[in-house]
Amino acid sequence: MNTTAVGSDTLSLVDNRTGQSYAVPIQDEAIRAIDLRQVRVKEDDFGLLSYDPAFLNTASCKSAITYIDGDVGVLLYRGYPIEELAGEVHFLDIAYLLHHGELPTPAQSKEWAAAVARESVVPDGIVNLIKSFPQDAHPMAVLIAAVSALGAYYPESKHVRDKAQQLKDFTRLQGQMRTLAGLIFRHHTGRKVEQAPVTGDYDVDFLVGLFGDEPGYKPDPAIVRAIDVLFVLHADHEQNCSTNAVRAVGSAETDPYSTMAAGIAALYGPLHGGANEAVLQQLRLIGTKDKVPEYVAGVKSGDHKLMGFGHRVYKNYDPRARIIKGAAEEVFKVTGINPLLEVAVALEGVALADEYFIRRKLYPNVDFYSGLIYEALGLPAGMFTVLFAVARNAGWMSQYMELMADDEQKIARPRQIYIGPERRSHKS
Ligand code: CMC
Repeated sequence: MNTTAVGSDTLSLVDNRTGQSYAVPIQDEAIRAIDLRQVRVKEDDFGLLSYDPAFLNTASCKSAITYIDGDVGVLLYRGYPIEELAGEVHFLDIAYLLHHGELPTPAQSKEWAAAVARESVVPDGIVNLIKSFPQDAHPMAVLIAAVSALGAYYPESKHVRDKAQQLKDFTRLQGQMRTLAGLIFRHHTGRKVEQAPVTGDYDVDFLVGLFGDEPGYKPDPAIVRAIDVLFVLHADHEQNCSTNAVRAVGSAETDPYSTMAAGIAALYGPLHGGANEAVLQQLRLIGTKDKVPEYVAGVKSGDHKLMGFGHRVYKNYDPRARIIKGAAEEVFKVTGINPLLEVAVALEGVALADEYFIRRKLYPNVDFYSGLIYEALGLPAGMFTVLFAVARNAGWMSQYMELMADDEQKIARPRQIYIGPERRSHKS
């Protein structure tokens, strides 16, 4: 193929090994990696690969769900800015928006919330499974096990291409993950492990699932609102590490329960959702605001990372972090100020003014302030990422359903560049 004239939507490539020219089509500001395969030295060569460890510059899918402009700090769910949704639209309606593409009507919203509530009772075997873990087991390890075990109770979920089945599994997972969070919390904190009664208000039911065994417990409306905002902020974030795991596992036509367990496993890591727990540990380690400069100096000299800072896509303030800061103020009015807040504020101030962070465009991310709220609510650090998972299930399942409907998708199977020994024999 020859190079084409200026103005065409193509990329001209010249292979200097052969002198051959190629015109590779450009669409949506991207070239298809498969088009590089025509670039070869000999007819029977495999062709050129693109090498992109950690997917720094690879689009793995086309998606209509979430849009991020990381340079300016924009996040849209189905086109709606996160600032217009958090605190304005209930989390369950956001979950509906993510997978349906439109916000529900009041009737649809009611029907969806009722369906989630109906599906929220987990099988007794799963309650027993949770009780069988040591009390100090990490809540995320228990959540991974419980969600994957749910698949054993719903074998019909193997009909992964059946849209009605997908919706049934989404509804069930959204209801039961909420219940699981309550059961896991109660087991972890030595409370009575039993399923709480369900009212149909997702946020209230979530809080009652956690604390409902306390005599006279009634969630404060300000806390209910804050939980809803947190759920909305965590609902989806396009092709992050756990969503990529969900899409990779789902591409093998694995059922949604095992697939969500894979997503939860990815989220568990401290570089991803586990950062909210790591931030709290970091703030405790720093202890008081006068120790902040010393800690930041340790970050700059490579001793440790600043947890809750930095993002692969955001090179500006994470819009979710800004909203969480506001939610924290509301929560602290009810719970009293978390004393670690002043350490966090000092840490943010020092980092944002420091050349190291400015040059690398490192800003606070969603995990920087969320742990302070969770702790003020009385949750142990191990539970923080469980809350993230309950919310992110909405995004994972929406992405799973989008994947299943995408004719271009096949089993996710990257190539590699082999750097091991050439063929040899152990006999000689
Ligand atoms: N502290 C100190 N330096 C950092 C940090 C940090 N938190 N993040 C990035 N850098 C430095 C990094 O060392 C590198 O420096 P240099 O150019 O000198 O080698 C430069 O900034 C670019 O970083 P990178 O490693 O190429 O960035 P990445 O896109 O691969 O990693 C990240 C993104 C989120 C994994 C990383 O910023 C990080 O580890 N942050 C701390 C953990 C965290 O808060 N994770 C939550 C992410 S947001 C929500 C979520 O996913 O759950």
